[in-house]
Amino acid sequence: MIEIIIGTMRPGAYSRKVGNTVFSIYKNLTPDVGLIDLKDIPREAFTPEAYEDRPRAIQAFSDRLLAAKGIVIVTPEYNSSVPGVLKHFIDLWKFPDTFKRKFSIISVSNGNFGGIRAGGHLGELLLNRGGNIFPGKVQVPMVETIFNEKDELTSDAVKKRLEDNAKAFLEFIK
Ligand SMILES: Cc1cc2nc3c(=O)[nH]c(=O)nc-3n(C[C@H](O)[C@H](O)[C@H](O)COP(=O)(O)O)c2cc1C
Repeated sequence: MIEIIIGTMRPGAYSRKVGNTVFSIYKNLTPDVGLIDLKDIPREAFTPEAYEDRPRAIQAFSDRLLAAKGIVIVTPEYNSSVPGVLKHFIDLWKFPDTFKRKFSIISVSNGNFGGIRAGGHLGELLLNRGGNIFPGKVQVPMVETIFNEKDELTSDAVKKRLEDNAKAFLEFIK
């Protein structure tokens, strides 16, 4: 099972368009794929009590993450790193079990570097906690220019990079 995480709760986020596109790409390659959008993170995850029973605070998602063989994280770059909500979500994961997964990282920005700093930070923290990081990271730059009004990806180059990356990640988790 592959779970794809959209790493922001921002309304109208371009990373959500990228995440939905990545989900469609995986759907064409494997039936076992799910989508977790952090806009759906339960409000109780943001209470002090959430730290007492971390997996329960994100119950809707934690069992799915534990059952997944591979986790694909699509993160935008916010202030040179990952969004706070993504870090908080990871802070609530069941430790160490959830971290023993294989991870693919896709970073997104509207600048030229495609969120490379966010992707780097994410890879480092997952690695430090025991994650197995797929080396084929993808950066998606200039994200505001590559979707049409129907939220369809219009860049063939980015589409190919995401498709090649998904195929290679499925091989990696075998
Ligand atoms: C709070 C915030 C901080 C941001 N910081 C950066 C940044 O440090 N570097 C960057 O390239 N883009 C930054 N951006 C712009 C995002 O790259 C841009 O919004 C892009 O569309 C991806 O974010 P989105 O998924 O929220 O749309 C920031 C955006 C927000 C909302």
